[in-house]
Amino acid sequence: MTPPAEGGACLNWPGKREAGILAVQPETGLLQDVPDRSVRPSRASHLFIEGDNLRILRLLKKEYARAVQVIYIDPPYNTGAAMSYFDRFSRRTGSPASGPDGGTRKDDSPWLSFLYPRLILARELLRDDGALFVSIDDRAVHHLRYLLDEVFGPENHVGTVVWRKKVVRGRGHRHIIPQTEYVIVYARSLPSLPPFSEPLSPEMIAEYRLADGEGPYKRIPLAKTGTAHSPRPNLVYPIEAPDGTLIPCPTHQWRWSRKTLQARKNELEFVRNRQGKWVVYTRQRLYPSGTLRRKTPVSLYDSVSTSDGTREFRALCQGALFDFPKPSRLIRDLLGWVPFPADTEESMIVLDFFAGTCPTAQAVLELNHSDGGRRKFIVVQDTRAEGQTDIAALGHRRIQSVLSALEKRPGVPDPDDFDNLCYRTLRLSDP
Ligand SMILES: C[S@@+](CC[C@H](N)C(=O)[O-])C[C@H]1O[C@@H](n2cnc3c(N)ncnc32)[C@H](O)[C@@H]1O
Repeated sequence: MTPPAEGGACLNWPGKREAGILAVQPETGLLQDVPDRSVRPSRASHLFIEGDNLRILRLLKKEYARAVQVIYIDPPYNTGAAMSYFDRFSRRTGSPASGPDGGTRKDDSPWLSFLYPRLILARELLRDDGALFVSIDDRAVHHLRYLLDEVFGPENHVGTVVWRKKVVRGRGHRHIIPQTEYVIVYARSLPSLPPFSEPLSPEMIAEYRLADGEGPYKRIPLAKTGTAHSPRPNLVYPIEAPDGTLIPCPTHQWRWSRKTLQARKNELEFVRNRQGKWVVYTRQRLYPSGTLRRKTPVSLYDSVSTSDGTREFRALCQGALFDFPKPSRLIRDLLGWVPFPADTEESMIVLDFFAGTCPTAQAVLELNHSDGGRRKFIVVQDTRAEGQTDIAALGHRRIQSVLSALEKRPGVPDPDDFDNLCYRTLRLSDP
């Protein structure tokens, strides 16, 4: 854990110390096979683990410390004191304990104490080049940022995605109608995290309408647009046109230095505009190194809404009820940003320890089916967490529906020794 930087803020709440200790307590529970909630388990890469996620994270640490590439979680909302409902441990250990309240509202403490040890363990499971994605609404986003800053270090905040989850206006709000939610992203170590990328949209691909012997490309002006706060003198110089005339820089500076221009001469294109003046472009290739160009994701996401999530879940689970299941497309798109590590042929492990109805499992299964990738899901969901409903059963229903659909849908074949269309279920039990 990173101590707050000098002068930096630090989140405190009653019970914090006790909650932190929960992360390091030994775990004696056992995981037992549940064959009737598995599909061809002997061949399965994917895992569904049923039970309390704190204990299961402790067990996972024994086998998967520094092994997980991506963690996506969607923790329960902060419902104040009712939170301790989710956490048999805090109740058993008497947390939240008394102590000076460092600024949080009284009711936030159980939620913070609930998440804190789980986030500590989550970090320990991540590979050095791994990342954590956390869904959260605007009522808790500030607390979560502080908590994650503390556990991961503020320098490892990758970014925060604003998800436009609703496109219609809701009722019952007098001032501001919430249409957005957040996905906060932290790296275990930001310098080790490889760049994220996503496919170009069809409209963007259509912009590459020029072509030469090397394939499709589009022109990008070499003159930099926008305003310069401090133009760099080495980026301002005349360029020689094909007819020998000199082209002065038409804006505050070029994008390339003289040296780069010399080295990448064959990427330049000189075109006369309507007034007969030379314009210098660079050619941006659609297939820069043989594979389709991708782009860096932006912090605004609006490809799907909560109602898509509900519709999808109802269709897959024949009308079962669950409040606001995440659309699997949201998670699929986020997972698609993360490249496979170059240094290993092993499966990329994707963990969700607040699995709910298992949209993360669906996202992994579908991504693998569409790109032949070797991603392995580990999802964790308690069977008893919410009243009488066995939420894990809803997750199994979703996974099994997705498996039957994928079996019928043509896809990219699985790599050798990896069978995407089966999974094994384990349940936590006491020795
Ligand atoms: C907000 S929901 C996740 C919903 C999920 N993303 C979906 O779209 O279906 C949080 C889930 O965490 C589960 N949960 C809460 N506390 C838990 C615990 N201690 N162990 C395991 N699961 C827990 C709840 O049952 C609930 O299903």
